[in-house]
Amino acid sequence: MIVCSCTRISDHDIELALLDILNQPEAPIPTPGVVYRHMQKRMQCCGCAPLAVDVIYARLEVLEKKGLICPYRSFSTRERLMRMQQQRRNQKANVPFTAEEEDYVLAE
Ligand code: FES
Repeated sequence: MIVCSCTRISDHDIELALLDILNQPEAPIPTPGVVYRHMQKRMQCCGCAPLAVDVIYARLEVLEKKGLICPYRSFSTRERLMRMQQQRRNQKANVPFTAEEEDYVLAE
């Protein structure tokens, strides 16, 4: 399935990139920007960003089930991605951060 038509990135490309990224010693949170940069691509219209996040999230589970990434790393990465998405939604809706979200933002 094509995720990004501007840069021709498929869900399979994202899965392979995640595998590389998450097996690094100090793996960053695999946001779409991190994943695309890893593939030496750059978002153009950004229309694929929400789908890319969904694919990243789903592929983390697939890689974990295949035993290709550590279940703890998969869980913590999915949790952090979910928090980042929630923060963005709150920012768009102009909803103030909860105390827990503020702690998370400050820790990043
Ligand atoms: S569809 Fe991905 S950058 Fe345009």
